[in-house]
Amino acid sequence: MSRIVLVSNRVADLAKASQAGGVAVAIADTLHARKGLWLGWNGRIGDRSEELRTRPDLTESDGTTIATLSLSAREHDDYYTGYSNNVLWPVFHARLDIAQFEAGYYQRYLDVNKRFAQALRPLLNADDTIWVHDYHLIPLGMELRALGVSNPIGFFLHIPVPPAQMFLAIPEHRELARGLASYDLIGLQTKVDVGNLIDYLQDGVFGRILQDGRIRAFDRELAIASFPVGIDVDSFIGSRPKRVREQPPTTIRLLGVDRLDYTKGLPQKFRAFNRFLEKYPDYRRKVTLSQIAPPTRETMAAYADIRHELETLSGRINGRYGELDWVPIQYIHRTAPRKMLVDIYRNSRIGFVTPLRDGMNLVAKEYVAAQDPNDPGVLILSRFAGAAEQMKEALIVNPYDVEEMANSIKVALEMGLTERQERYQALLAGVRRNNTYVWCRSFLHALDSVGRRNPLAIPSSPSDAARKALQEIELARVSPRMQPN
Ligand code: G6P
Repeated sequence: MSRIVLVSNRVADLAKASQAGGVAVAIADTLHARKGLWLGWNGRIGDRSEELRTRPDLTESDGTTIATLSLSAREHDDYYTGYSNNVLWPVFHARLDIAQFEAGYYQRYLDVNKRFAQALRPLLNADDTIWVHDYHLIPLGMELRALGVSNPIGFFLHIPVPPAQMFLAIPEHRELARGLASYDLIGLQTKVDVGNLIDYLQDGVFGRILQDGRIRAFDRELAIASFPVGIDVDSFIGSRPKRVREQPPTTIRLLGVDRLDYTKGLPQKFRAFNRFLEKYPDYRRKVTLSQIAPPTRETMAAYADIRHELETLSGRINGRYGELDWVPIQYIHRTAPRKMLVDIYRNSRIGFVTPLRDGMNLVAKEYVAAQDPNDPGVLILSRFAGAAEQMKEALIVNPYDVEEMANSIKVALEMGLTERQERYQALLAGVRRNNTYVWCRSFLHALDSVGRRNPLAIPSSPSDAARKALQEIELARVSPRMQPN
């Protein structure tokens, strides 16, 4: 089996991957099995000499090499904060209004990608399979190709793909498309994302659909498919402690766990809870919303703004409805240890997951996995989370519709045991089916399959049938063995 080489902006500590959860677990597992290499930013900001800047620090962990590079202060400002998080993050999450299209960001973004590619090149073997992750590194494949790398290279985007018209608003969209076309396989979270990217490639850069379902753009052929990210289900089911009931139960808990990001719809969620208390006064003193919102990207203005808005909002709602013995909203601006989270998930009657836009949202899956099968809670889920494409048995809501969300809280609280169990069983089956190992294996399998194929003949004009087939591309279309088991 060929070695696997991962590249991502952040590198997880492999020894602690099981505690980090989510994607890190599957990646650690794969690296362990295939004795790979993982390159990324070491999280530090510091200037080094030019030569050292393309020579990563190497450490070994259980047969895997971890290679890390630091960023200069300017690179951090322009590549990470500037282009990645002030351009790509907002636009890809449909927030064109707050994107900052500053001159210079893209060039530095490209330079850092080039430096990562130069650092990686001497570490590669001829038969390595390379897997690049997320929006920080879109041009990495192109930079590796420019250095003569012909290995299979796959790219997985963890965040949503915006509709074509929005993608086109990025001044450098063409350069980004050229970067995307350098990969053999692009993995996206949902079928909607696949459709959006294909539309954009066709409309924006004259990409053509081939008869085998791949896209031809910039003289290369690439496959695009959805591979929904999952969780390590057993770590939630197997390790959870016995349900601890509060004696006597004081309040029923609604739970939110989201990085404090403007994409997560937290003000709308707080307003919905406010509306619920206003509309259904009998529930006052009986229900509490616990919102765990760990800090993230704190130096950026949009994040400072959302924090300020939430603090004001929770203060106002607590001031309006709170009693000496009841706080309506518990707002916690800290990270909760994963072990504790499992407990909190299990003891919360409602998982309240209402992002305005989200690539997948693993909290929705973790919440379901942690429930007590005998007395499961109810998941309220935004239709704009990637997870909604699979988790149809949740109470699906429009996160912009405060009234609907307020009503859904009541519906969830009053849902009978049988219905809760039926929904839980169906949701859990889906979470199990698309777990994190299936995600990782199916992507790598697809990459091995498409990355080693010869380019096919290009049809003079792609048929509608081919277009439709590609939009609904199934893993089996590329190779029957890629079907998740
Ligand atoms: C999202 C992105 C990840 C990123 C994470 C935390 O989940 O898809 O690539 O690592 O947010 O953001 P940060 O900016 O702290 O890396």
